[in-house]
Amino acid sequence: MFWPILTPFIPGLTRRERQIIPAAYDDVPAMARIHAQSFAKGWSEDEIERIIDRPNTKAVVAIREGFANGQIEGFVIAQIAADEAEILSIAVDRFRRRGGVGWALMDEIMRELHKDRVKSLFLEVDERNEGAIGLYRRLGFRQVGDRPAYYRDADGLRSNALIMRREI
Ligand SMILES: CC(C)(COP(=O)(O)OP(=O)(O)OC[C@H]1O[C@@H](n2cnc3c(N)ncnc32)[C@H](O)[C@@H]1OP(=O)(O)O)[C@@H](O)C(=O)NCCC(=O)NCCS
Repeated sequence: MFWPILTPFIPGLTRRERQIIPAAYDDVPAMARIHAQSFAKGWSEDEIERIIDRPNTKAVVAIREGFANGQIEGFVIAQIAADEAEILSIAVDRFRRRGGVGWALMDEIMRELHKDRVKSLFLEVDERNEGAIGLYRRLGFRQVGDRPAYYRDADGLRSNALIMRREI
């Protein structure tokens, strides 16, 4: 079984200062706000609530110690199908990026999925999204396919989706 220890790498913060915990209904408004900051088509609070309510999804949020419920730094949602899972969305508050939140979220969701006997984790990422691709590569994801012209930005420009995968 391949399971490298990832947690020692959390730039700037110790584990005590940040917690990665299951998403709660109180977090949904902040999740929608962060999603809208991060993607051209934001998900509404209702959409997020419906997604995290599904029995086959797992969602975790990052909170700073001492912060109230709902004051999250970011979240990740994954969907499980048999022994495979897919990242549906990951986003970090734009003022909190590059501080290790994305890494900590991915680390925790992979631990959770591993406990659920998931063997492979897939995700799709816009080929122009250098930040996310950098994060996934450092986490050990490798490209296994693509979807030509899958994304379309606000100006109508199309770009490919890279399909990436990692054993967990
Ligand atoms: C992608 C995203 C989740 C990363 O979260 P983050 O908290 O900023 O990432 P981290 O600080 O944990 O970064 C860990 C490593 O990933 C890589 N990385 C992260 N952001 C990067 C960037 N903008 N450019 C290059 N590498 C980057 C680096 O290797 C980084 O380590 P380093 O800071 O020591 O160099 C965040 O930028 C985000 O929310 N973007 C908008 C939403 C999005 O694109 N989601 C992914 C859709 S597939």
